[in-house]
Amino acid sequence: MRAAGPSPLVPSLFVCVLGLVIFSSALENLWETISSFVIGEEIIQGFVGQDFSDRDSITLILNMLYPLLVSAVFRINSHVSSEMEVKLYYCLVGVLYLFTVARFSYASRSHFSGSWKNAEVRKHLNRLNKHAIQTIESPDGDIIDCVQISHQPAFDHPFLKNHTIQMKPSYYPYLINDEKIKVSTMTKTLKDVSSSRQEVISQLWHSNGKCAKGTIPIRRTKKEDILRASSVKRYGKKKSFSSVALPSSIDPDHIDPNGHQHAIAYTKGQFYGAKATTNVWNPNIQQSNEFSLSQIWILGGSFASDLNSIEAGWQVSPDLYGDNNTRLFTYWTSDAYQATGCYNLLCSGFIQINNEIAMGGSISPISQFHGSQYDITILIWKDPGDGNWWMQFGNGKVLGYWPSTLFSYLRESASLIEWGGEVVNTASDGQHTTTQMGSGQFPQEGFSKASYFRNIEIVDDSNNLRDPKDMNTFTEQPNCYDIQTGNNGNWGNHFYYGGPGRNQNCQ
Ligand SMILES: *[C@@H]1O[C@H](CO)[C@@H](O)[C@H](O)[C@H]1NC(C)=O
Ligand SMILES: *[C@@H]1O[C@H](CO)[C@@H](O)[C@H](O)[C@H]1NC(C)=O
Repeated sequence: MRAAGPSPLVPSLFVCVLGLVIFSSALENLWETISSFVIGEEIIQGFVGQDFSDRDSITLILNMLYPLLVSAVFRINSHVSSEMEVKLYYCLVGVLYLFTVARFSYASRSHFSGSWKNAEVRKHLNRLNKHAIQTIESPDGDIIDCVQISHQPAFDHPFLKNHTIQMKPSYYPYLINDEKIKVSTMTKTLKDVSSSRQEVISQLWHSNGKCAKGTIPIRRTKKEDILRASSVKRYGKKKSFSSVALPSSIDPDHIDPNGHQHAIAYTKGQFYGAKATTNVWNPNIQQSNEFSLSQIWILGGSFASDLNSIEAGWQVSPDLYGDNNTRLFTYWTSDAYQATGCYNLLCSGFIQINNEIAMGGSISPISQFHGSQYDITILIWKDPGDGNWWMQFGNGKVLGYWPSTLFSYLRESASLIEWGGEVVNTASDGQHTTTQMGSGQFPQEGFSKASYFRNIEIVDDSNNLRDPKDMNTFTEQPNCYDIQTGNNGNWGNHFYYGGPGRNQNCQ
């Protein structure tokens, strides 16, 4: 009989079970399995408090596990007595062998890196795509999941675990210009009855069903969507903070190295929201890593690494969506597009309460050149009651809100509002891109040809919607994309903007 002491039975049993789990999957899925079950990303993240999912980290973990296993094998070797323990011992040696093979394969074969990426992609898909009560297939190929409101991705955010959903804002901005707008809508319906029909605008997927009350429609992320991104981590994020136009009045020496081009109107001050109506187009995109968008920017902080931004509008972005459709989008960041924030619901942040509108869903119909014009109205405001930033789409559809706790500067107020267009010019063939902004027409073309923003307003510190005091414009290359402002009764503060990109005067 051996003297009583710590029995090796328990640890070796444990290792054996581990070994069986590993064995049960095919050898080539070994690392996928280990990464998912044994050293899950979340556990690793818990240890080191940050994203820990690249190759080097895994190699590090393996290096840590390896000596542990080796020493266990040797320890048990000196204690083996019963037949049972001999079997356990061989099992352990088997596991050690597998670890050794996998350890070296992992380091030397890209095959394993591929399967690691697969595991990463699958895990990210699991995070983003929540359990659907109902699923609707859109004619454009999108799958819309109707997800219970309390199961949306926002609540994965550690800060939002205990968050109580606000089902409606406590205050709306006061409509100073309400009278004027009512009158103008009436005159407009008389005058532009055939050319402006904002009421009927909706999303393509509506033709195949709708989401029940208590759920929200979420555009399902597909594996291909993530694989088009530069990395799993960057999926759904803008590439750089050149995504905000930096007017020369703010930094005269600024040259954007990333080829982002803008045609915008902006106003500086202390703001609590912004509103505008813009007609929706389907600009051509020359190549898939470029995009064209039209949006409102609500900005706080300096143009450094601490920039806070809330954005909403329409965009065409083949890389993000896999097609050339015009889609409704939102964006937010609290650190200049680095680690925080994303498009739509592609990360935790925005809390949606509306069951009709899918973020990232295709907009339909689209304005026609010299034909019917369709426009969308976006209002974003900071609720003086709960402090959250709310978004309203169209006439009274409250989509949801960004909790103020996501932000630093925007917890207080915004310091800069921008309205307008942005495109990426990769100049891939050494020439300016032919990617269009707005309708692809210059502002001089005017109504039913050029794209516009009308009834541009800001929310002031008394929660009133009013005209911006002074609005300036900015564009990097007016020969490529330009902007022209105006002011009249029906349209209030407005501008036409856009352009074709490459042309005789823009090479
Ligand atoms: C959430 O609530 C639990 C229990 O009330 C509490 O222990 C925890 O600290 C809270 N978490 C946050 C992030 O507020
Ligand atoms: C998008 O449009 C471009 C040309 O404008 C075309 O080359 C590309 O194939 C289109 N992409 C998709 C996914 O339809």
